[in-house]
Amino acid sequence: MIIIRPYEASDWPALFTLLRATFAGGDTYVYPPDISEADAHQAWIDIPMATLLAVSDAGDILGTYFIRPNQPGLGSHVCNCGYMVAEAAAGQGVATALCEHSQRFAVEMGFRAMQYNFVVSTNHRAVRLWQHLGYAIVGRLPGAFLHSTLGYVDAFVMFKQLVLEPAAVDPL
Ligand SMILES: CC(C)(COP(=O)(O)OP(=O)(O)OC[C@H]1O[C@@H](n2cnc3c(N)ncnc32)[C@H](O)[C@@H]1OP(=O)(O)O)[C@@H](O)C(=O)NCCC(=O)NCCS
Repeated sequence: MIIIRPYEASDWPALFTLLRATFAGGDTYVYPPDISEADAHQAWIDIPMATLLAVSDAGDILGTYFIRPNQPGLGSHVCNCGYMVAEAAAGQGVATALCEHSQRFAVEMGFRAMQYNFVVSTNHRAVRLWQHLGYAIVGRLPGAFLHSTLGYVDAFVMFKQLVLEPAAVDPL
């Protein structure tokens, strides 16, 4: 069973092990592959509004996500999340559970939409999963990501409205 609960300070050593292993791949996130522990803590714990964990019955960390406003002020009703699942738990629906949880949590917190700023185009598993969960590719950033083995590859901006009310008329 997958339990999704808030991060606690005592989770940090195990969570950092997961973050470090994922960033080290240099194929999914822009964070430096040799990121320091302090910088990882800042990125995943300090900057976000909240950090959640998916844990097993035994208490092992299976995955994690953070949530934060994507912009300040007049853009702060759109949130941004980052997700990560341990390699050993891949393909079991952990990311799906985290993403669905994050959407409910976001609406509870008053967000109206969710934006992923930087989905690496060669991260096919993630792109397909986000599309499957209702996120549209709304932009392509040519060569924006320096992939560890493929060199410069594109990144996608992906977006999903969570509160379906008509937007104000766009004068353009
Ligand atoms: C991308 C990532 C988050 C996917 O995590 P995951 O937990 O393996 O994803 P899920 O299991 O929820 O879904 C993956 C696939 O498995 C399928 N799946 C879901 N439940 C399943 C189950 N019980 N058994 C088998 N497969 C299942 C899903 O349908 C999905 O298939 P699809 O892509 O064809 O829709 C994970 O590989 C990861 O953390 N990668 C490194 C970091 C990263 O890329 N983060 C995202 C940045 S945008």
